[in-house]
Amino acid sequence: MMEDLSLHILDIAENAVTAGATRVRIAVNENERRDVLTFRVTDNGRGMSDEEKARALDPFFTTGHKRTGLGLPLLAQTVELCGGGLKLTSAPGGGTRVIARLLYSHVDRPPLTRMAATIMTLVFAHPEIEFGYRHTRNGLIFSFLRHGRRGGASVPVEIVAVRAALRSGLKRIGAL
Ligand SMILES: Nc1ncnc2c1ncn2[C@@H]1O[C@H](COP(=O)(O)OP(=O)(O)O)[C@@H](O)[C@H]1O
Ligand SMILES: [Mg+2]
Repeated sequence: MMEDLSLHILDIAENAVTAGATRVRIAVNENERRDVLTFRVTDNGRGMSDEEKARALDPFFTTGHKRTGLGLPLLAQTVELCGGGLKLTSAPGGGTRVIARLLYSHVDRPPLTRMAATIMTLVFAHPEIEFGYRHTRNGLIFSFLRHGRRGGASVPVEIVAVRAALRSGLKRIGAL
């Protein structure tokens, strides 16, 4: 099991990038009253056929094409262990949506404590891609949008500003 749920979010978002997405949306919802934690990653990449979807969820599938990760099967295992489920919606040319749901208070639920670092990693590793991030915690909402840009490496002052925006926003909603 991954030690923090944000690592799964990073992994799923990296799949979206690999699939050619130009827009990725990440939504996290923590609701302690309803005892549920959900996250959703939506992309406009190339999408998957039903057969590709089944393969992506199958930890034992291999062909000549070597699989480098176990991203989705590992996430499915974790959410099921934590009283929840995983939903994968995708169609060729129609993008992909992954929705994960876990019981907030489940004893085995990994923490979710590194979202600022996760969003930083995505935004600065893939500056050409538009990333939207919305994090709701017990009804309080933090939203962040980063437009894709071509060329021009990020300057340190910009990295510091994005980190500050993420940290203060997450702190305000009690997610940091
Ligand atoms: N967002 C996505 N869009 C299109 N295809 C995807 C997406 N996510 C996963 N896939 C497909 O599922 C496969 C398995 O994904 P994953 O378990 O993360 O392993 P890996 O990324 O190492 O191949 C990918 O290789 C890809 O073919
Ligand atoms: Mg992957």
